Amino acid sequence: MTEHFDVYGGARLTGEVAVVGAKNSVLKLMAAALLAEGTTTITNCPTILDVPLMADVLRSVGCEVAIDGDLVTITTPAELSHHADTSAMGKLRASVCVLGPLVGRLKRAVVALPGGDAIGSRPLDMHQNGLRKLGATSEIAHGCVVAEADGLHGAQIWLDFPSVGATENILMAAVLAKGTTVIDNAAREPEIIDLCRMLQQMGAHIEGAGTSTLTVHGVDELRPTTHRVIGDRIVGATWAFAAATTRGDITVRGVDPHHLDLVLEKLRLAGAEITTFNDSEDQGFRIVQHDRPIAVDFVTLPYPGFATDLQPFAVALSAISDGTSMITENVYEARFRFIDEMVRLGADARTDGHHAVVRGVEKLSSAPVWASDIRAGAGLVLAGLCAEGITEVWDVFHIDRGYPYFVENLNRLGGHIERVSSVTERG
Ligand code: EPU
Repeated sequence: MTEHFDVYGGARLTGEVAVVGAKNSVLKLMAAALLAEGTTTITNCPTILDVPLMADVLRSVGCEVAIDGDLVTITTPAELSHHADTSAMGKLRASVCVLGPLVGRLKRAVVALPGGDAIGSRPLDMHQNGLRKLGATSEIAHGCVVAEADGLHGAQIWLDFPSVGATENILMAAVLAKGTTVIDNAAREPEIIDLCRMLQQMGAHIEGAGTSTLTVHGVDELRPTTHRVIGDRIVGATWAFAAATTRGDITVRGVDPHHLDLVLEKLRLAGAEITTFNDSEDQGFRIVQHDRPIAVDFVTLPYPGFATDLQPFAVALSAISDGTSMITENVYEARFRFIDEMVRLGADARTDGHHAVVRGVEKLSSAPVWASDIRAGAGLVLAGLCAEGITEVWDVFHIDRGYPYFVENLNRLGGHIERVSSVTERG
């Protein structure tokens, strides 16, 4: 049995939508629960496929995990297994984030190489080099990362690139190392700040969260905690692009608008009217796009740059904008595979290396298209909403990995999307 979406073109999305916790935060927070014996509770969790997959990864090393709506409870035993090699490991990238906590707590780990989206090469060299600096050996053997140490000690670590995953793994090993670790050129994503906050609540000593220099003073032991996941800025931005692309009017709640400063500025340049609100009760923004969007350029970079995860939405918007956009992808070389699908929908787009030129057309036209990753899938749905006819989006399991109630939310906003099950795959 396989599923696809029928996306009916011509909708103008209007209304309100609530954003819950960030996928790329909750999965790492779940891994962090390995660092402390006892029961850790995480709230505001999204109901997406990756959460139960990560729960399976934690169960494979001995945790008990319960998922109840937006609440995830993880009970970590005194004795953990150092061997994380379950089929779930290969289904998501974030599974590799158990490496740092296992090495930190047990001083050894055998962790199956992760899976995840096909968006380009995703090596682990910076993760491994960081662990080596902390005193561990690390090699790849039989499809696993194998790391071992007599004891971990603080170190000065320079990352070649502000990798999100490497920063997280090194951080989670360093919190239980002896002495002080400094991670330079660390990632600054809001999800890293969220992880630092949770680790601090657990008793870790970390300075510099949200800057490119993280200083960690190792402690002997951490305690479990309760933590609320930050709102998903990538999902929030998806709704912002959905409004701009369909000339809609959407109020998005549950996400810190400061996490989207650059995104919202780009959409203002495209002609959107945007107001933000940010107090202890209510966070979010309203975006209204009255006329055809004006073409703007986008360049992906680590935070606070324009997120690579939003590049498909930038392409979809540019495809129907007035004028020509240049889109530059600096993080994942294969993410432009999405453009081939956009061309099926009538986009006038071509790529050259890590640049794409998109000349806006008045209207796209429906076709069967294939999602190659979470964001490409969501981008094709947005494009389908402004294509004449019914666009079939295939391989929608990708979308289910990252977007809670995507179809339901789109339909509540006035879109017309149907999830269709069939026995045979289209191909
Ligand atoms: N890189 C290396 N060596 C390493 C680690 C990374 O060369 O050891 C390179 C990668 O090849 C890539 C760049 O560094 O070119 C950035 O990779 P990073 O490590 O920052 O990404 P990640 O941690 O694997 C997370 C998100 C991605 C998001 C990227 C960039 C999770 C689970 N995934 O991946 O999210 O695109 O950061 O912001 O947090 C998504 O949610 O759809 C998604 C793909």
